[in-house]
Amino acid sequence: MPRPRHLPPTPSASSSPPTVAPEPDRRHTGGWREASGRLGAIWDHCAVDAIIELERAAAAHWRGTEQQWLGGWLLRAADGFTARANSALPLGDPGLPLDGALAAVTGWYRARGLPAMIAVALPVRAEAGESRPDLDNQLSERCWPTRPGPAFVMTAELPGAPAPVGLAPGSVFRVDDEPDDSWLAMYHYRGQDRLPQAGRTVLMSASSQAFASIRSGGGREVLAIGRLSFGEGWAGITAVQVHPGRRRAGLGTALTAGLCAEAVRRGARRMFLQVEIANLAARALYERCGFRYSHRYHYRVAP
Ligand SMILES: CC(C)(COP(=O)(O)OP(=O)(O)OC[C@H]1O[C@@H](n2cnc3c(N)ncnc32)[C@H](O)[C@@H]1OP(=O)(O)O)[C@@H](O)C(=O)NCCC(=O)NCCS
Repeated sequence: MPRPRHLPPTPSASSSPPTVAPEPDRRHTGGWREASGRLGAIWDHCAVDAIIELERAAAAHWRGTEQQWLGGWLLRAADGFTARANSALPLGDPGLPLDGALAAVTGWYRARGLPAMIAVALPVRAEAGESRPDLDNQLSERCWPTRPGPAFVMTAELPGAPAPVGLAPGSVFRVDDEPDDSWLAMYHYRGQDRLPQAGRTVLMSASSQAFASIRSGGGREVLAIGRLSFGEGWAGITAVQVHPGRRRAGLGTALTAGLCAEAVRRGARRMFLQVEIANLAARALYERCGFRYSHRYHYRVAP
């Protein structure tokens, strides 16, 4: 497939209202910068601003069923379905000293029967010490361990015209406004057998989304699925899965090409996705499709 080009971090301007509380003053971002701290040459303030804006955008593509702002921190909950929708996202100053903010976060999640988690964005090459944001160091000092499964955020600039999707004869690429039962049956988040009720709500939580699949047998057999979401000037890819018996045969590549082509058709110019650092297969796929690393993140969990 003609590859999308690498997208350097670019601040995005727009934002949509959160589900519950009004969005805080963007001036809070300065506080996050301070909390991000001594990032040195690896992650300068321009890059931090771009990453905050991308994180803000990504949060609008995969929302909690309940959301509330604590100053510049977005608290999200969705009955525990995915860490992204069940963690606090620091996008600015929480408006409280850190210990007060952590107590408020912990209380908010405890009231919902959930572990308190904070999503911390980090430079791509985050090692211990100087290159990590102060917030991460401060959480570490307060014995908030990291949750397994840190992830990269990858981005690509999309080509001006949709590229063809290479499919074997008898297979079709299709896009639906909502996931049907076959699509949902293929979706096993972290190997889960059943999608919880909140899962469907989260899948439909962006301002708009589309559910792509590659199917054969006249549409009866689903070979691969992926979700596209739109908002805040970005297209996002989530929920990519190829049938376990059909992997390494080009379906992931075809699906990603189809998702990019559909995003272009709908006017998107840049795209992001999140992929676990340990998921070497998916990372290789996305790298081959032209995605490059923007930053990484992990979750700190309340002790
Ligand atoms: C990741 C995944 C979507 C790839 O689908 P796929 O149909 O096997 O991908 P393709 O056949 O198009 O492979 C494209 C390239 O990706 C890389 N790749 C795919 N699987 C790989 C593996 N197991 N190990 C190493 N590289 C791999 C290779 O570079 C491959 O090209 P090659 O076969 O010419 O070497 C599939 O493994 C999958 O569904 N995994 C479980 C769900 C998942 O991890 N989704 C991604 C969440 S972000």
